[in-house]
Amino acid sequence: MSNNTKKITWKSMILILSCGNCKSSSECNLEEEEEESEKKVLKQGSFQRLCLSDVSNSSSSQAIEDLSVSLGAGSNKLYTFTLEELREATNNFTWSNMLGEGGFGPVYKGFFDDKLRHGLKPQTVAVKRLDLDGLQGHREWLAEIIFLGQLRHPHLVKLIGYCYEDENRLLVYEYMPRGSLENQLFRRYSAAMPWSTRMKIALGAAKGLAFLHGADKPVIYRDFKASNILLDSDFTAKLSDFGLAKDGPEGEDTHVTTRIMGTQGYAAPEYIMTD
Ligand SMILES: Nc1ncnc2c1ncn2[C@@H]1O[C@H](COP(=O)(O)OP(=O)(O)O)[C@@H](O)[C@H]1O
Ligand SMILES: [Mg+2]
Repeated sequence: MSNNTKKITWKSMILILSCGNCKSSSECNLEEEEEESEKKVLKQGSFQRLCLSDVSNSSSSQAIEDLSVSLGAGSNKLYTFTLEELREATNNFTWSNMLGEGGFGPVYKGFFDDKLRHGLKPQTVAVKRLDLDGLQGHREWLAEIIFLGQLRHPHLVKLIGYCYEDENRLLVYEYMPRGSLENQLFRRYSAAMPWSTRMKIALGAAKGLAFLHGADKPVIYRDFKASNILLDSDFTAKLSDFGLAKDGPEGEDTHVTTRIMGTQGYAAPEYIMTD
């Protein structure tokens, strides 16, 4: 029996859906430009990345200070901030600036102007502060720096810098104006999200994961869920929260031994059963 129907792949379906929404050909060009920039970062992702195990024993402030030098080069520059600077940027971590909260601690909206940190482009940021009474700590904070400090991709949130002072651990990210996918989906009194937007988010998040899995030194993300998918003003999805991430197997190795990690309700049952 001959089959004359044209094969429709997920990718072509998404393109059809998103092109249905294009107001002009410039939006289609944007799609091509994004693919180009993804190809560039894929090439860029082949440099020798530092693994979490290389640095997980370092907790001396000098070793941590050195990280911003060894990880942040060129456009990847990582800034080290003082707690005082972050206090000022977030209006003393005021409640009204709070953007969300997860297992690591609260996240606040902040603003850096040229006076507060000379050399840093004036911008709105998100500041995540470790909850000192919580279950997470130095390891999760360091994991975010090691992974997001070295990996750059249009579908990963950008880490701008960090703060390490006494027991305080903070992380500073680019601000994502539409917050998390979870907030978008479960916000009260908002119109249902169109399917084309849902597909754009799903594709963006999948591209972020594919980049991590396809890197020279692959990364296992381990906490893929709606509250960890952040949205830019145009609904570009970016993966955030690398606290549970882990270096994947390399070369001949096919698996890594590991403790079960993730969030209940999101992790696959067959994975949980391997515990
Ligand atoms: N860069 C950001 N821009 C805007 N909101 C953010 C940003 N980072 C985090 N948030 C908000 O804070 C919540 C918790 O952040 P997340 O990084 O997942 O922290 P945790 O490690 O504690 O789970 C997110 O679900 C989101 O609502
Ligand atoms: Mg989270």
